[in-house]
Amino acid sequence: MQITGEKPPTSVSSQLEEMWHKLRPGLAGLFTESSVSYSSFEKGWYIRGVMKPTKRMAAALATDRELLFLATNFSDQQPRVIEFAKKVIAQEKGRLEHLVVIIHLDQDGDRKLKTWGREQALTVLPILLDVTADATPESVQRSLSSELFSRDPFDVSTPVSDDSHFFGRRDEAIDLARTIATSRIRSYFGVRKIGKTSLIYRVVDLIKNSNDADVVYIDCQRDAIFNMNAAQMIASIATSIEQLSLTGAGRATPRHNTFSGTIGEAGDALQDLLQKISRPLLIAIDELDYITPSSPTAPLWAGEFVPFWRCLRSVHQEITQRRLPVSLIVSGVSSKWFAQESIGGVENAALHFVPEQYLAPFPRPVSTQMIKRLASRCGLSFSEHVLERIAADCADFPFWIRRACSFMHQSIDLSKRPTDVSDGDAVDLLDRFVRTEGQALSQLAIEHLCRVYPEIRPSLLACLDGMGQSQEKWALASLSRYGIVDASQNWAIRGSMTRNGVLAYLDKSSSETPVRPAVDALSAGGDARSEQWADDLAIVNRTRNIVERQMRDLIVVVLRVSAVGESGDKLSARDLVLRAIPENRRSDLGGIPLNELMSKLFWLDLYAIVNKYWSSFEKVFGDKILFQQNCFVVNDRPDAHAKRIDAADLALHRRSLKWLQDRLNDSR
Ligand SMILES: Nc1ncnc2c1ncn2[C@@H]1O[C@H](COP(=O)(O)OP(=O)(O)OP(=O)(O)O)[C@@H](O)[C@H]1O
Ligand SMILES: [Mg+2]
Repeated sequence: MQITGEKPPTSVSSQLEEMWHKLRPGLAGLFTESSVSYSSFEKGWYIRGVMKPTKRMAAALATDRELLFLATNFSDQQPRVIEFAKKVIAQEKGRLEHLVVIIHLDQDGDRKLKTWGREQALTVLPILLDVTADATPESVQRSLSSELFSRDPFDVSTPVSDDSHFFGRRDEAIDLARTIATSRIRSYFGVRKIGKTSLIYRVVDLIKNSNDADVVYIDCQRDAIFNMNAAQMIASIATSIEQLSLTGAGRATPRHNTFSGTIGEAGDALQDLLQKISRPLLIAIDELDYITPSSPTAPLWAGEFVPFWRCLRSVHQEITQRRLPVSLIVSGVSSKWFAQESIGGVENAALHFVPEQYLAPFPRPVSTQMIKRLASRCGLSFSEHVLERIAADCADFPFWIRRACSFMHQSIDLSKRPTDVSDGDAVDLLDRFVRTEGQALSQLAIEHLCRVYPEIRPSLLACLDGMGQSQEKWALASLSRYGIVDASQNWAIRGSMTRNGVLAYLDKSSSETPVRPAVDALSAGGDARSEQWADDLAIVNRTRNIVERQMRDLIVVVLRVSAVGESGDKLSARDLVLRAIPENRRSDLGGIPLNELMSKLFWLDLYAIVNKYWSSFEKVFGDKILFQQNCFVVNDRPDAHAKRIDAADLALHRRSLKWLQDRLNDSR
């Protein structure tokens, strides 16, 4: 297409044209040119291209709009290019996506342009063109693809509620939001990360947008909340309701309350307030496990649970009789305390008041649709067979699916996007995820469930052994409603990830994983972030244990072969190991058999062995320097830090583990 518009001086136009011609072939198959013209802005000249994404690219970018491309030949870029881009996008009145691709020649331009873009709330995808070198279509496409597709759309670990991240469960949220006025009581029990808080947030958002009800949201994992007794908790809810009527904010979060009266007095105060409300009210109690008799942090709730629910039940009965529109949503992992007749010999007021309802995994079509949509945002597309397989392996749990796909996204070359991932590659990556991070993740969820609901454990193990039918009905029903076993498949465990998690949970050596102290220290803050840290850290630790075990196995196998092959010097694998460890420890370890010896070695010992017999291990690890670097990072355990570890520490650790694990897996 001809470049139109008033032409700049030849020295400028020839350079801009050269840049544009180098860019063009790289865009083939991704964009078509709608218009290309010269433009000037504040004494600077640009080539300005309005580009229409091909159907596939539009799906990948999740946009129906066209994109603005600007070529600029300044060797030192300045913020005015962002000003210009914003001006053009505004002038086009909705025709263009709120994004600009800037082709430039400034060596430090990528960083500067992105920073200015962030400051001006404009997404900037910079492409540095080296006019002196050959810019092949492939290299241009590679730069563009890495800019466009490097963001990981799967990687979200906080609750989601907005349209771009919240999948399925939409009708359920709408239904709940609509029926607040009918004094409903709804519960959502579910394993860790099944999406309970996300659903509650979605309902709260809907209510907020329609602005026809008030919400009190109680997050029981906060220290300020679980450290209150039952009377203070009721008083704190009452204070929030009072606040709502005063401020008209629509949403309130209870705070710590030092009320010193009786639970009866607190209940009366709550009832008085509820009788005065002018709008429907939703009380949402999330992370319930923190205020149950088996609370991990607040032992006082062993005695406070029944009085709390007795008070809430009686207040609710009273207001229902008066037809006041107050609804309740509760959510947590263990349904145990809501299914028992009595607690400590006292009638359980929560039973029959809070129904035993569960948040099920996604229906299969929702899982596959979520994968398809998010994958297209990072330029990946999977066959129907693979979509099904990911969903099935991850038991249709949204968070597990996201983590699996995030792992796949990070393992697939950006420069070839958008791309159809072959079934073989996809299944290979998925299997690798399930064996490593996936297993760690599901083990965590199973461990947590068995901790807060230990009664369910024997039935879970029976189901693993194919003996589900021998178990009591209530336990099987719970396991099935948690989405862990499949009632229609003779109570078999659902999905390979869950199965691996249960197996790992059973694995005695894994129960020695030294994650608890660090996890507890981190969780002491009691907020959602700490929980997230604890999860991330536990996954890293678990992966580290797997890598360590694989290293031990590899060393034994390789040294056995080396020992046989060594002529003259007939050393056994055991002797070779002993020779590699520091002299002062040899005498302690000398008399024991190889397997036991291996189990007593530290990480740095394993490193030293590989390092000493490098020629035997070279074909597994390839690069010695990288091997050393990654081993040292892994040796610096994140849970050994007294300081609060940061995301960069964890990311570094994860990357080194992945490096080692990729090579160990390939050696199998
Ligand atoms: N409806 C959804 N659509 C897409 N992803 C979801 C959805 N619900 C949850 N997720 C994914 O699962 C993650 C965990 O969600 P959420 O925090 O709501 O779970 P939870 O059950 O409240 O967890 P916890 O037991 O730790 O409180 C989210 O960060 C998101 O990645
Ligand atoms: Mg939650």
